[in-house]
Amino acid sequence: MAEMRSESVSAGTVSFRPMTAESAEHLGEALAVIDPWAHYDYTPEMLSEFLSAKEEDAPRFEIVSDEALAGAISVRRTWLRGPYLQFLAILPAFQKCGIGGAALSWFEARARHDKARNIWVVASDFNRDALAFYERFGFVQVANLDGLVAEGVGEILLRKRLLTR
Ligand SMILES: CC(C)(COP(=O)(O)OP(=O)(O)OC[C@H]1O[C@@H](n2cnc3c(N)ncnc32)[C@H](O)[C@@H]1OP(=O)(O)O)[C@@H](O)C(=O)NCCC(=O)NCCS
Repeated sequence: MAEMRSESVSAGTVSFRPMTAESAEHLGEALAVIDPWAHYDYTPEMLSEFLSAKEEDAPRFEIVSDEALAGAISVRRTWLRGPYLQFLAILPAFQKCGIGGAALSWFEARARHDKARNIWVVASDFNRDALAFYERFGFVQVANLDGLVAEGVGEILLRKRLLTR
């Protein structure tokens, strides 16, 4: 499946494009001040470094809404009988417009194209909005990975089954 694709949402057209260094820097600054990253004291530099890193099995994309930078997504393609959504962020000004949902649809469509049996994601136990967002999309909580990122915090592993045979 092509790396770049557009989705239509109520907010307009959403595109997924390879991350640029400039976008990674801007996103790092904007995301370090919101949860879950603020909760874990991620710095803008740490986030920018992650977002601009080149990993063949886990490409980073910027999410663009009507030509404006709206967020970031990264998918680890080969994980556990299906890909793992290792990063998803929509900038606050662009939230609740359907862009996050469009990103999940794009993630799932690529996985279905690759005949994956499952898609996976992890969200922190305090990130109630994100957990509800994933569950509404059909993900089911399957494990609590206590202390995975920090002591006293659980990371909830969620799975959506795509193929059942
Ligand atoms: C969680 C997150 C990715 C969701 O992205 P989003 O773009 O806000 O998601 P959507 O707009 O598709 O859906 C969110 C809500 O907006 C609603 N919505 C969608 N389009 C809408 C519209 N045009 N008008 C009003 N509401 C709308 C959805 O129905 C949904 O509502 P609900 O939560 O009551 O069901 C985003 O909030 C985010 O990046 N949060 C901070 C980082 C984070 O937690 N990332 C996940 C880490 S695991």
